[in-house]
Amino acid sequence: MRHFLTLADFTKEELLEMIALAQKIKAQTKRKEFVPYMERQTLGMIFEKSSTRTRVSFETGIYQLGGVGLFLSANDIQLGRGEPMKDTARVISRMVDMVMIRTFEHSKLEEFAAYSKVPVINGLTDSYHPVQLMTDYLTMLEFGKADNPVCAYVGDGNNMAHSWLMLASKLGFELRIATPKGYECDPQVVAMAGKFAAESGAKLIFGNDPKAAVSNCDVVTTDTWVSMGQEDEKEIRLKAFEGYMVDEAMMSLAKKDAIFLHCLPAYRGYEVSEETFEKHAEEIFTEAENRLHAQKGIMVWLNSHRNDENPELRVKS
Ligand code: CP
Ligand code: NVA
Repeated sequence: MRHFLTLADFTKEELLEMIALAQKIKAQTKRKEFVPYMERQTLGMIFEKSSTRTRVSFETGIYQLGGVGLFLSANDIQLGRGEPMKDTARVISRMVDMVMIRTFEHSKLEEFAAYSKVPVINGLTDSYHPVQLMTDYLTMLEFGKADNPVCAYVGDGNNMAHSWLMLASKLGFELRIATPKGYECDPQVVAMAGKFAAESGAKLIFGNDPKAAVSNCDVVTTDTWVSMGQEDEKEIRLKAFEGYMVDEAMMSLAKKDAIFLHCLPAYRGYEVSEETFEKHAEEIFTEAENRLHAQKGIMVWLNSHRNDENPELRVKS
């Protein structure tokens, strides 16, 4: 049985298998062919943080695969009143077939997975957002930007930046990350990405100059400067990130046909200008829709790599 906690846990081939599945199932969905790859299965969805895309895409996705999603807000289950993560894992994983969790510390997700009898998917932690990066890669493929791309991430060295590092270092493309001083990526994540890059041939470049990062690149991306849980730091952060807004002046340094991606929600006038956002709305909202498709690929892949007691429930891809 495999969990989907970070992209670090998978080979390039495995990640590409999931993407290929996502493409196949997306095409089927567009033809209104709903193949019950996960018939009668239940996906438990535990949220300790807010969500629009993750909730709607997982709930709709599992339904379209023939199963059902259970939205479990930490405020409504006993987890929010202090029931330990490991007990929550041992209870829920005896009842459902797969679990998705959005939480704070990555270690809480790892603890849940350690005690879970069923595959666990990371729906965002403070450290990583891997389902989003699978989505972003699917979107890059669709916009013709997945062939040896040069990507630039401008902004906070946060969960999104870390997951970009994992994607680039696993798949072997060039990623430039520009962050303000003091907001760099976690050195441990950088070191791990460096090891993967040595194997894949990825080029990882770090700096504090957003203009240098976006220069002649194929994909520009950013994320909020104030992630969930950092609300108290808002004023300090807004000051620290001055000069990091992706606007038309910055985009003009990238290739003419460069795409702009944003995991959303976007804060116009901060990490991205209104003009740049609206100019790239087609890419951004295709990316948002692709959460639905990419995650189906991930769920079906995990479902076909498990040794459960009911193999007849598994529909091979
Ligand atoms: N991008 C993303 O994960 O969006 P939500 O926070 O709305 O789920
Ligand atoms: N970095 C952001 C991503 C939101 C999808 C956060 O963690 O809040």
